Amino acid sequence: MARRKFVCGNWKMNMTIDEAKALVEGIKPKVAGLEADVAVAPPFTALHAVAEVLGGSSIRLAAQNCHFETKGAFTGEVAPTMLRDACCSLVILGHSERRTLFKETDETVGKKVGAALDAGLQPILCVGETLEERDGGQTLAVVSRQLKAGLAAAGADRALRMVIAYEPVWAIGTGRTATPEQAQEVHAHLRRDLEAMYGSAISDELRIQYGGSMKPSNAAELLAMPDIDGGLIGGASLKPDDFAAIVTAAAS
Ligand code: 13P
Repeated sequence: MARRKFVCGNWKMNMTIDEAKALVEGIKPKVAGLEADVAVAPPFTALHAVAEVLGGSSIRLAAQNCHFETKGAFTGEVAPTMLRDACCSLVILGHSERRTLFKETDETVGKKVGAALDAGLQPILCVGETLEERDGGQTLAVVSRQLKAGLAAAGADRALRMVIAYEPVWAIGTGRTATPEQAQEVHAHLRRDLEAMYGSAISDELRIQYGGSMKPSNAAELLAMPDIDGGLIGGASLKPDDFAAIVTAAAS
């Protein structure tokens, strides 16, 4: 089945408000009219300003994280409803930097997915193995475990609102990309897991993005694989031309 490709820029901890506005102003005209879904994920501080620049554009706004509680004494955290208030419709959850650097577990990621869905957000659930896990032959087991725990609170009725992102940790920010075949193997495996959980009507529709040093020079070959339905882009999403080139590859 033809899934419309979906490319999201994850700006991570980059961009002042002025820089963020300039970046999205640069991206907007370059991706307008392309046959792919597009989103950007600025840091929290720039969400509102970027939302204003986006205006009626079809580019969607994503946050990079949220908490699983709706409000209260959680200093430094941001609730899913606050993200909706800031015009976000998506939230990236379980990114490997959150798991590794900020000690997020499968369980907390699963709670966040449930809370984000409750608030009406569309979660982008990230899964991916470390180099050690890949070398130890654990890749498929690790991503399956992360997928199932991440989706534990979603339920079949809300599964269609999910986006999955496969991001091999060893390929993030390293310039080292999974080969299209390596990525396809994992994407196909994830789709089989989704089919076992929800049936093929749902698994055929769910989009699985690839992330990890995707750039204009390798996007087309990755996006040509049957189960790669888009990209979650770090470094290359900070340059309008590079990001637009990836969206163009996704659209063609
Ligand atoms: P890079 O594209 O910089 O490797 O980052 C990928 C990523 O982590 C997107 O979430």
